[in-house]
Amino acid sequence: MSETRVPTGLLDTFGRTATDLRVSLTERCNLRCTYCMPADGLPLPPADAVLTAEEVVRLVRVAVERLGVRQVRFTGGEPLLRRDLVDIVAGCAALRPRPELSLTTNAVGLASRAAALAAAGLDRVNVSLDSLHAATYAQIARRPFLQQTLDGIAAAAEAGLGPIKVNAVLLRGVNEHHAAELLAWCLERGHQLRVIEQMPLDADGVWDRATMVTAAETRALLSARFDLTPDATPREGAPAELYLVRDRAGGPVLGRVGIIASVTESFCADCRRTRLTADGAVRSCLFSAEETSLRTALRGGADDEGLAELWRAAMWAKPAGHGLDRGLVPAPSRSMSAIGG
Ligand code: 5AD
Ligand code: SF4
Repeated sequence: MSETRVPTGLLDTFGRTATDLRVSLTERCNLRCTYCMPADGLPLPPADAVLTAEEVVRLVRVAVERLGVRQVRFTGGEPLLRRDLVDIVAGCAALRPRPELSLTTNAVGLASRAAALAAAGLDRVNVSLDSLHAATYAQIARRPFLQQTLDGIAAAAEAGLGPIKVNAVLLRGVNEHHAAELLAWCLERGHQLRVIEQMPLDADGVWDRATMVTAAETRALLSARFDLTPDATPREGAPAELYLVRDRAGGPVLGRVGIIASVTESFCADCRRTRLTADGAVRSCLFSAEETSLRTALRGGADDEGLAELWRAAMWAKPAGHGLDRGLVPAPSRSMSAIGG
């Protein structure tokens, strides 16, 4: 008689199961977005602490084969800064059951790599783009790379890495008046804009609830030019609240826009995410101070089930939520560039 293993996924004490893995591949970035990084960058982990391509694929394999992970998103820092990104994608695409593979990127340098990434098995990209104006882009990213980002998005669309999601963070007095224009631009190209409320994840610690552009304000800003109706399709753990977009005069649906109210209408109760940092630690939540290093066990010779057990234990301790919608301001121990969006 064959042995039946009852698979246990990544459960927590609040009844959630994580099936969506975010893997940060590097803490390095070629931009310095003000809501994420300080102007001078952040200290990086020693190079030998960062997981190799083989180690990343091994841990993703454990997640897929033993822990029920179905979606894998590569993030950073900027994951395109990994020269071996194609190898990582190809290694993960060979896993069974085949996980859905996506990449969160600023798209700088994507133009020359989109085709190879698609060929390796990447399914989709999410691109960060906060403004279509070169001066505003450079003000936020502290680097003048708007054209590279636009070229990267075009190449991704050409390579079939769609539907492309465009992530924007609105900053009061900086780019909030560009939101409707960004939406028009995305609709014309069949991309899905997702406006994300700024979270207190900047390394400079300058986040302020009063200056954050809320989801409600975003809806109002977009409604000046478009008609938004809530999309009735169930969210299924997706953080974005989706709206069908029409012209203000009515007419056909032009596309959808997502509004991610991470702070004011948090979706922690339905969170399905688990995170792996570039140096191989499990983070159960963006805001959790707890990390469980899998790298130490991995390099110490742990077997797959040993790694899976550590991962389960780390997720069992996942907190209920960040509490931002209840007025708390948790201090993350790492910025977004270090944890991975
Ligand atoms: N608040 C909200 N979103 C952020 N991102 C980075 N830092 C923050 C923050 N403080 C977003 C980026 C990117 C994604 C990975 O996370 O815009 O699209
Ligand atoms: Fe880099 Fe993304 Fe952080 Fe901007 S938000 S500095 S692109 S990691």
